[in-house]
Amino acid sequence: MPETTREVIISAVGSFPAMSATAAKVLSLLGTPDTDIADIEESIKFDPGLTANILKLANSAYFGFPGTVSSVKQAVAHLGWKRMYQLVVASAVNALMERPVPGYDLPRGELWRQAIAGAVSALAVNEVANIHDGEEAFTAALLRDIGKMIIGDYIDSYYQQIEVALDKGISFEEAEREVLGTDHSEVGGWILKHWSLPGELVDAVRWHSRPDDAEKVEVTIDVVHVADAISMAVSNGLDVGAIGVFPDATVMNRLGLTPESLPGIVEKAQETFMAVGDNLGS
Ligand SMILES: [Fe+2]
Repeated sequence: MPETTREVIISAVGSFPAMSATAAKVLSLLGTPDTDIADIEESIKFDPGLTANILKLANSAYFGFPGTVSSVKQAVAHLGWKRMYQLVVASAVNALMERPVPGYDLPRGELWRQAIAGAVSALAVNEVANIHDGEEAFTAALLRDIGKMIIGDYIDSYYQQIEVALDKGISFEEAEREVLGTDHSEVGGWILKHWSLPGELVDAVRWHSRPDDAEKVEVTIDVVHVADAISMAVSNGLDVGAIGVFPDATVMNRLGLTPESLPGIVEKAQETFMAVGDNLGS
């Protein structure tokens, strides 16, 4: 029996690059409350690539210690557990997400730039919505569009059918579903599962454009949804009027936000995005 495109895409997820064994181990250690800092150091020290990336990002403007972090031990001490988690994920996916993405016309570096814009937007949403324990949203927003790395190849092959679907006035993601039987959000969720990342991150990536279709309401999904909606305006230095699709009103309500909250969120995110600049890239 011929395989459906959806089945072919599912098998492509199985051969998507694995997260390095070291990164996976460190993330699991960071997710365990009684882990000793020495175990983390021990795991990272034999992986020079990951060590270099961690130190590079730890010294970037975003993580806040430019030029002062010279060892993994210092990085953990300065940043604390939750930001260390963000840092290890960002270090592990940085090179992968720098690649060009055909199908979405994303030149080299653009997916990563959009990822960072989303991640800093999530922080700004957290701040304005007074969410104090929302570090997961940074990582989920960073990874939200990783599914494009797989779906992009199929968009290229099914370009004509996608065009026909788009002519009906549906969104690009609906066209992905109609033609390919899946979309970049679902594929992104599969990739995060393939990497054994926590369910909260999987759900937020999976439902970032359709939070109300998720099985349950989760604040991380809502924050990533709003961050995603504003991220293009943030990365391009534009104001709220440039947002193509506004965040869902129910989601905004749940977060205690109004349309009037958005300009302030965009401005805050833009400030961080400008400060981060290329420092968070490779
Ligand atoms: Fe997306």
